[in-house]
Amino acid sequence: MENSQNEIKIIASGDGSHTIFHSGLNETYHSMHGAVQESEHVFIEAGLEQLIPTKKIIPIFEVGFGTGLNAWLTYKKIASSDTKIIYHSLEPYPLKEDIYSQLNYTKNLSDKTLQDFFIQLHKAPWDEEVELNRNFVLKKIKLKLEEYNISGQHFDLIYYDAFAPSKQAEVWLPENIKKVYSLLNKDGLIVTYCARGQFKRDLKEAGFIVETLIGPPGKKEMTRGKK
Ligand SMILES: C[S@@+](CC[C@H](N)C(=O)[O-])C[C@H]1O[C@@H](n2cnc3c(N)ncnc32)[C@H](O)[C@@H]1O
Repeated sequence: MENSQNEIKIIASGDGSHTIFHSGLNETYHSMHGAVQESEHVFIEAGLEQLIPTKKIIPIFEVGFGTGLNAWLTYKKIASSDTKIIYHSLEPYPLKEDIYSQLNYTKNLSDKTLQDFFIQLHKAPWDEEVELNRNFVLKKIKLKLEEYNISGQHFDLIYYDAFAPSKQAEVWLPENIKKVYSLLNKDGLIVTYCARGQFKRDLKEAGFIVETLIGPPGKKEMTRGKK
């Protein structure tokens, strides 16, 4: 895929939160039933919340930084706790400031720190690990999953938030599933909105224990894998 900015348009999803419509792919960045609703359900509730009770430091790897919504909701969840997040996120096509600065995720919040944090996430340098505050270390990596080489860092949680397999089959290939499996620590989790049979078979083939969970509003199922 390419991502020229004239292919990108902000639209409102069913819960009022913004998402991005990519005209080249004819695809949105989130569920049209509700962007925040989907991210909360799939990544925060089925992923992050499973680890918070037992882990003080949670390294997370994301496929597709996009609007920064998952990163921001992750911070929002742990901001007033002792949990520390190490967040590495891949994004080959970063959004420009005139787009991300218009997204409405923080608009109705009175908490200025949370509002500012959304912009901090976007303004953080690429390909460099930065401590944004005592709870959150960020590394945004301007690479495709296919190009990413495993280094020393391993993770407890993977947010697999690429475009759907019907739009971007290359990201869901078995070699990428094996790559993210080897990025995870033992007992680590992968969560995604995708519930395709072939994807779940590939997860099993890579070594994951696979669960099909109830999906976010408007979607029957989602998937969680455990290493
Ligand atoms: C479904 S959107 C979700 C993005 C983000 N998590 C969010 O909440 O906005 C998929 C994202 O994956 C990015 N992407 C496209 N090709 C990719 C690749 N080969 N590897 C990793 N990310 C990719 C897209 O640019 C887009 O930002």
